[in-house]
Amino acid sequence: MDFEYVENMPTESHNSVLGKDFGDVIYGADAQQLWLKMMAAGPVIASPLDPKHVVTTTAEASNQVLRDPGVFSSGPDALYFGSDTGAIPLQIDPPDHSRYRKLLDPLFTPKLMNAREDQIVAIVNRLIDQFIERGSCDFSNEFALPFPSEMFLTLMGLPMSELDSFQRVKEDMIRPAGNTDEERIAKQGEASMWIVNFINSAMAERETKETDDILSYFLKLEKEGILTREETLNICILFIPAGLDTVTDSLENAFAYLAQHPEHRKQIVDNPDLIHLAVEELLRYETPVPSVVRITRQDTEVSGCPLSKGTRVRVSLAAINLSETTVANPMDVDFTREINPHVAFGAGIHRCVGSYLARIELRVALREWHKRIPEYVLQPGFELKYRRGLREIDQLPLVFG
Ligand code: HEM
Repeated sequence: MDFEYVENMPTESHNSVLGKDFGDVIYGADAQQLWLKMMAAGPVIASPLDPKHVVTTTAEASNQVLRDPGVFSSGPDALYFGSDTGAIPLQIDPPDHSRYRKLLDPLFTPKLMNAREDQIVAIVNRLIDQFIERGSCDFSNEFALPFPSEMFLTLMGLPMSELDSFQRVKEDMIRPAGNTDEERIAKQGEASMWIVNFINSAMAERETKETDDILSYFLKLEKEGILTREETLNICILFIPAGLDTVTDSLENAFAYLAQHPEHRKQIVDNPDLIHLAVEELLRYETPVPSVVRITRQDTEVSGCPLSKGTRVRVSLAAINLSETTVANPMDVDFTREINPHVAFGAGIHRCVGSYLARIELRVALREWHKRIPEYVLQPGFELKYRRGLREIDQLPLVFG
């Protein structure tokens, strides 16, 4: 597959240079090779997915986009996320964005997240208990999917008895089944309504009984006139794709890598003190959110490429993570890499709110799993399939014991 550097090309005439299968291969098993090829093609390349859509592939071009939200907006016209006014805070531009971040950042500090460690250890071990004797597991369905959902219900103070329903509804929200667009949209609508009712009724309970959780914090802000109910619901709904599937996908990518690279796995089994570095390195190399999207608010230029107002710019975080300007020898997966300024959590004002939560979830999962299951492989003969969207694996059957 060949790529073409977009130089002085008016947006209207962008040609497809990545090929029709761009979307499928970009997230596939050999995605890193493709990301390198994209980088070699130049800092701004055209996308076949949308004629008014370009991809930035170098750290310099991408950082320019991520760090200038006045020109490169993340509003809902960049990528529709189900809300016309924009998912909060992901699709809110300055100056309003900082108001929301000031409210949300204190909920996910390293201190608060570290204090949750015992709860996270308990969830991870309870999940492992359910399949360890069997000697095999469907890693996605039995571990990577339920783990962040349980954590979400715990942090929000929502009833764990609803875990199964919540997981079903979450799937309908993100990957609605259906033969037609109408069917899928209807399914998504029903799922969002279920979540709204679920949260509203939990908030109503807190009117009489205050608890120490995120929903009580939001209720307090509502009473002080700082948040409206609509904003609370908007934020909670964004937490679902932003905070659940990203962790599921990072776990799948990490365990798929470790299952296929026994020498790396042995390194963390023999020396668990390396796990925090291994988590960062796997986030860098695999980049579970391979790209983020912005839209130009005015005519502008990126690395010599003029872009007209209204151009969608897909920033390849994966390419930044594989760039020599980010780390030395980027194609080496090195669990002893101490300095690792990757952008798996994004960069600029929209950098991930939940990065400390994600990190502790991933570290505890790797630590507890490898204490109990040090040896495992991908089910022999099974071929991994990666889905489009985030870098996620369809099914990950592991065999151990
Ligand atoms: C390993 C797991 C995760 C990864 C790889 C990840 C990745 C990212 C990335 C790349 C962005 C930037 C999006 C952009 O610039 O358009 C982001 C934003 C965000 N993430 Fe995460 N995330 C993860 C876990 C979480 C968790 C656990 C939460 C739970 C609270 C969360 C909540 C958010 C929110 C609310 C934003 C929007 C921030 C803003 O716009 O200011 N993420 N995440």
